[in-house]
Amino acid sequence: MFYQSSQLVLVASWFLSFVFCIRWIRSKKSPVRHPPAVPGLPVFGNLHQLGSLPHRSLRALAEKHGPVMVLRLGRVHTVVVSSPAAAQEALKTRDLAFASRPDSSLADRLFYLSQEMAFSKYGEPWRQMRRIGVLHLLSQKQVHSFRKVREEEAAALVARIRAASGPVNLSDLIIDFTNDLICRVALGRTYADAKGRGSQLGALFGEFSEVMGLFPVRDYIPWLAWIDWLSGLDGRARKIGLELDALFEKVIAEHRRRKLTAKINADDMDLVDILLSLGDSNDDDDAASSSANISLTMDNIKGIILDMVVAGTDTTKATLEWALAELIRHPEEMAKVQEEIRRVVGPRGEEIREEALEGMERLKAVLKETLRLHPPGPLLLPRESMKTTELQGYHVPKGTRVFVNVWAIARDPTLWDKAEEFQPERFLGVGDSGDDAGALDFKGSDFRYLPFGAGRRGCPGIGFATVALEVVLASLLYYFDWEMPDGMSSEEMDMDEVFGLIVQKKSSVILQGRPFKA
Ligand code: HEM
Ligand SMILES: *[C@@H]1O[C@H](CO)[C@@H](O)[C@H](O)[C@H]1NC(C)=O
Ligand SMILES: *[C@@H]1O[C@H](CO)[C@@H](O)[C@H](O)[C@H]1NC(C)=O
Repeated sequence: MFYQSSQLVLVASWFLSFVFCIRWIRSKKSPVRHPPAVPGLPVFGNLHQLGSLPHRSLRALAEKHGPVMVLRLGRVHTVVVSSPAAAQEALKTRDLAFASRPDSSLADRLFYLSQEMAFSKYGEPWRQMRRIGVLHLLSQKQVHSFRKVREEEAAALVARIRAASGPVNLSDLIIDFTNDLICRVALGRTYADAKGRGSQLGALFGEFSEVMGLFPVRDYIPWLAWIDWLSGLDGRARKIGLELDALFEKVIAEHRRRKLTAKINADDMDLVDILLSLGDSNDDDDAASSSANISLTMDNIKGIILDMVVAGTDTTKATLEWALAELIRHPEEMAKVQEEIRRVVGPRGEEIREEALEGMERLKAVLKETLRLHPPGPLLLPRESMKTTELQGYHVPKGTRVFVNVWAIARDPTLWDKAEEFQPERFLGVGDSGDDAGALDFKGSDFRYLPFGAGRRGCPGIGFATVALEVVLASLLYYFDWEMPDGMSSEEMDMDEVFGLIVQKKSSVILQGRPFKA
């Protein structure tokens, strides 16, 4: 008996030391390293440290804790990336692992259960919609086909400014411009042309982006969901969801009717026409659909249209406002870019044609520099890891939320000369900025500069956005000389930001435009 048990102990202890040994060897080989964690509070974690401008707060935290750090936002495990190397690993090397998006109760309610492109999880439905978006809606060819619309809307904006006397609220006029442009491109002429209705649409989209910028507590601390109800967020979300749905039902019904009664010329198709022709591939032999092999639900179609509207309007508006504000504060840059535009267009510019943009390198540099200092999405859209993976040697569990602070990276003084200053010339490869940024673009290949993100989830609207921005800014700067109203000095242009779904200028851009006579 004694003999037996002592033998048992011997075997057991031998076995145990074997197990420990293996464990020890394993831990030597691949120690699990966790990224530095920012200390926080119970329950809330680091939520209270985000402040009203999270990109700025997160930069300050990263300076202390490093370019890959962990925060807890309520119960949400979050990794914040703030260096080009880490961004490259997350968006390129391990792109697939980080290609999903987190659950968002707002996106669920407002984006047709996330059955669209921007907010849906990685998976076959997203891939299908992304393919449609890239091939049929936002391709070079499609973007080019909308050029007449862009030129006309830019000219209409100029006419509106001409008609005004005294200082103009450019923010207001730019909102009209972006809404009209996107409506015509996405929903078709009929909606933009009907006066009055256009402004109602504007109000609807305005309320929509405001709601999308709110902070749903339930996504971070589920048992506090009742706060969203109390604060009115739930009610507003439901209401705007219903209104948008009603609008899109109407839009789609109108397009269906039109399609039945007349054969639509491929050049006259708007996004809804294109989506419907793809969705109806079973009973239709359009060239577009025969190769597509796709099945779009009604919710998909509505979701994609909404994506375009949301992604295309506020971002464009914000970028134009910042560009004008920066140029007003830097009169010498304003003078140089106006000289270029007026030289390229020549004296008889009735309407700025898009061919002319080719020769406007400085204009492009101004827009690039604007997006460097003021990316509308300073943290991109949140990503989520689809599986357990690594980042800069740190362990990142599945389901981790990832923010890439492209705003902080693009202002990092170790990467950029005079990082906080507005110097478009750094993108021309001239001047004394010392950056080798002459050929630097924003297509997501240089990880110091990612206003459109990168990789599988990067912005598919870059081409669409850049021509629209260029043609409007060129028009505004060709036809008018701008100054601050009522003898205010240009230093009084205030540059405060406000954080929502995107970061925008807090106060409107109000300027006095003097018509330029060539
Ligand atoms: C100044 C203009 C714009 C900027 C700065 C911008 C920026 C961005 C950023 C940062 C993202 C997230 C990328 C990521 O997570 O890596 C994004 C996604 C997206 N953008 Fe844009 N964007 C702009 C204009 C547009 C336009 C005009 C459209 C379409 C009409 C568009 C459509 C989209 C879509 C559909 C997504 C989601 C892609 C996905 O999740 O698969 N964007 N954009
Ligand atoms: C300018 O227009 C914006 C957008 O419509 C509006 O919110 C703002 O109050 C206007 N500012 C002034 C001073 O009228
Ligand atoms: C078409 O789609 C179906 C289902 O999504 C898939 O099983 C099939 O392989 C696809 N066919 C082609 C030719 O891509």
